[in-house]
Amino acid sequence: MIRFENIGLRYGSGPEILRDISFMLAPGSFHFLTGASGAGKSSLLRLIYLSLRPTRGSLTVFGQNIDDLSRDQLPALRRKIGVVFQNFRLLDHLSALDNVALPLRMAGLAEAQVQDHVSELLRWVGLGNHLDAKPPTLSGGQQQRVAIARSVINRPRLILADEPTGNVDDGIGMRLLYLFEELNKLGTTMIIATHNEGLVEQFRHPRLHLENGTLTVIPPAGGSEG
Ligand SMILES: Nc1ncnc2c1ncn2[C@@H]1O[C@H](COP(=O)(O)OP(=O)(O)OP(=O)(O)O)[C@@H](O)[C@H]1O
Ligand SMILES: [Mg+2]
Repeated sequence: MIRFENIGLRYGSGPEILRDISFMLAPGSFHFLTGASGAGKSSLLRLIYLSLRPTRGSLTVFGQNIDDLSRDQLPALRRKIGVVFQNFRLLDHLSALDNVALPLRMAGLAEAQVQDHVSELLRWVGLGNHLDAKPPTLSGGQQQRVAIARSVINRPRLILADEPTGNVDDGIGMRLLYLFEELNKLGTTMIIATHNEGLVEQFRHPRLHLENGTLTVIPPAGGSEG
């Protein structure tokens, strides 16, 4: 699914923030991505989403080396990836329902089904009473849930979530994690960047840990299942 080989990344002429990163993720795997603020979690996710190019090394996504990808192959590849950005990136002039509906409408799904699927998912994340609300009128945690709903609505093969529980209380955080678990059981590969140690400890998944520019894969506590 994803293969990093000796990947290095620097912004402009700054220092290398990722150094000699090598790891491989199998289809259907579930990993947390941890590390202090500034360790490079968001940058690593941006590399996988191909919104950032590594400065060195070799990167393979969905079995394709990104150096062999042409510009016009990029949109099709990105459609297989659901992303939850750290700052949500919702469209402020569209309702919650229309924000979440975007990927389905782009895929050409019939409007009646779009309405059904989207309202069901938004109810599930606790936003049944906010279908018509525009993002600026929602709280941070509510916007976060809209962003998560949008990232999962079209059942992408890979989900990259950047601090998806950063703005919600623990109850909702657990609920969102269970949603990711369910999708993972259906075959979606998951990578979740988080600071929330408590949450990480409640799920038996390995973690990719970033420190001083290097990455270590840490098996889940108490066993190797994951
Ligand atoms: N666009 C950019 N230009 C220059 N430097 C950047 C840019 N984006 C990130 N950096 C730097 O790269 C390093 C890693 O940033 P990144 O956002 O990947 O960290 P992070 O682990 O996601 O942190 P956080 O937990 O605070 O979200 C930081 O030192 C940051 O200052
Ligand atoms: Mg970040």
